[in-house]
Amino acid sequence: MKIKKAIIPIAGKGTRFLPATKEIAKEIIPIINVPMIHYIVQEAVEAGIEQIIFVTSSGKFSVEDYFDRNLELEAYLERNNKIKELELIRKIGSMVEITSVRQKEQLGLGHAVLMAKNMVEGEPFAVLLGDDIIVNSKPAIKQLMEVSVEKNGAPVIGVMEVPKEDTAKYGIVAGEVLDSRTLKMSEMVEKPNPKDAPTNLATPGRYILTPEIFEILENIPRGAGNEYQLTDAINILCKRKPVYAYKFEGERFDTGNVDGYLDATIDFALKNPETREKFIQSLKYRIKKHGITL
Ligand code: G1P
Repeated sequence: MKIKKAIIPIAGKGTRFLPATKEIAKEIIPIINVPMIHYIVQEAVEAGIEQIIFVTSSGKFSVEDYFDRNLELEAYLERNNKIKELELIRKIGSMVEITSVRQKEQLGLGHAVLMAKNMVEGEPFAVLLGDDIIVNSKPAIKQLMEVSVEKNGAPVIGVMEVPKEDTAKYGIVAGEVLDSRTLKMSEMVEKPNPKDAPTNLATPGRYILTPEIFEILENIPRGAGNEYQLTDAINILCKRKPVYAYKFEGERFDTGNVDGYLDATIDFALKNPETREKFIQSLKYRIKKHGITL
């Protein structure tokens, strides 16, 4: 069965990006000139997703507006013969169908996903978290979709290896190894201390889920951080039916924090032929100017 819908939770307050997030949605902060959320939606669209469901909170209108048409700006660009820019913004405005639902209180990722229950209407769906930008020629979420199809529509969770000391930052999975990339999951734990972590396989925000998850989410108690955790629901699901973990191919940037954001910005500036030369020149000049020896 084709997966047509993706839930993207964007209700978080973005406290790691204050003061910018005092007045702008974190998702709109750009890497060079492209908002971070653009990369997440693009990954979903390239994987064949037809509808994005944003789980939002107050102050996130700009994210919905970004993917809408802006007729006034289009008319302005047309009048001023800025055809390249006109095409660019028209394309963004017609990229994909967008709907949204409010999460009225920030009670955790599990609670956020539950808010979209009525919008996925009994179909398998994708979940992509906006803090994780994953770069690969075949989108990470598409790789998970393919495994799900191969496994008769089973849920599939994207994983990557992390240093053992970092397990407390992620949901961590364990299970039976089926091949070099696939595991049949037996357990998922939210942010375990390194000494309690069953493995170092972390879940950087890419999931293919099936509707049974909602009934579980409706009944779980609060978990780590006193929040309703998607991880806890998946942990229950994998004990009831086969759920797979898949080590996707691709480079992941943790743009939810300033260090990861900076790393992504440098990488994107270097790989884009339009910015590469200027970036290297500036970097050399600034390193010298500040008296830094490498
Ligand atoms: C969330 C999830 C966690 C996942 C992480 C990926 O945590 O709860 O399981 O590994 O995203 O970024 P958060 O980073 O929102 O605290």
